[in-house]
Amino acid sequence: MKSLHRPRRLRSTTNIRELSHEISYPGMERLIYPCFIQSGSQKMDPILAMPGQFRYSMDIFLKKLTDWKKLGIKNIALFPKIDENLKNSESSEALNENGFLPKALQQIKERHPEIAIFTDLALDPFSSDGHDGLVANGKILNDETVAVLAEMAVIHARNGADFVCPSDMMDGRVKKIREALEQSRYIDTGIVSYSAKYASSFYGPFREALDSAPRAGDKKTYQMDFRNQKEALKEAKLDFLEGADVLMVKPALSYLDVISKVKEKSILPVAAYNVSGEYAMVKASAEKGWIDGKKAILEILTSIHRAGADMIFTYHAPEYAEIMQKELK
Ligand code: PBG
Repeated sequence: MKSLHRPRRLRSTTNIRELSHEISYPGMERLIYPCFIQSGSQKMDPILAMPGQFRYSMDIFLKKLTDWKKLGIKNIALFPKIDENLKNSESSEALNENGFLPKALQQIKERHPEIAIFTDLALDPFSSDGHDGLVANGKILNDETVAVLAEMAVIHARNGADFVCPSDMMDGRVKKIREALEQSRYIDTGIVSYSAKYASSFYGPFREALDSAPRAGDKKTYQMDFRNQKEALKEAKLDFLEGADVLMVKPALSYLDVISKVKEKSILPVAAYNVSGEYAMVKASAEKGWIDGKKAILEILTSIHRAGADMIFTYHAPEYAEIMQKELK
């Protein structure tokens, strides 16, 4: 018997495809642009493995924000490159209220108050060991690290962060951070928890950008094993119970199943981080002419959204804004 269904009917013209599409391309309101900043002035150092991305000094960065706002960028995540001589095994610069990052936050809030700022909570940019936590005898200390992160969260909140984002994967950190924020009366500062952050090869270019790779060992005693999916649900549930506002899955592309599961099981919004190595793959192959970069970006961000991400951290944000402007014409 002949099938009564011919699915191609719904694909036959643009009008019909537009009438029947299931989700929209994610709008700029769903994106968070991760940016690298550094001390000094007149600096805009290219990050070699991330073509199009730079480490900006604040004078240039504040001007760039004006351009990006015109493109439709509404949210940024900040990653400071800390001077090598300020790194130590205690990561003490992370708690310097007069340090580079608190000042940068103040400057951005003053010049661009409408931009939502997401800050990262982890020690790696500040640590001479290049680990997200404090290290003793080759081990990453959990509770001692959590205490530092909670203090760090309060400093970020005080200086203008709208959301703090623990990316360290220590146990119990969301609870301690939430308690510290409440105690200091930063009741409106939110927590985007990197709930399911996997030990991934796709962070390579980011570590080049901040010179933050582990000096010894790897991150597998705290970041998750990429063979696991249920464990992501455990982490997400704990973070929900500890008071997180948003749950994140990271990286995005090899983890669309995890995004989808966390979205299905959780009542919180879900974020996905389209990480540096994913960005680098697109850029490298587009540069060689092996793929159409712009089409790939549209497809990638839409697929992350389709999987269940309400918000997406992506280095493609400025280019995507241009792609969308053309798409909507
Ligand atoms: C810091 C942190 C990392 C990333 C975000 N926050 C690196 C890491 O955990 O090693 C990676 C982001 C990216 O690759 O784009 N803990």
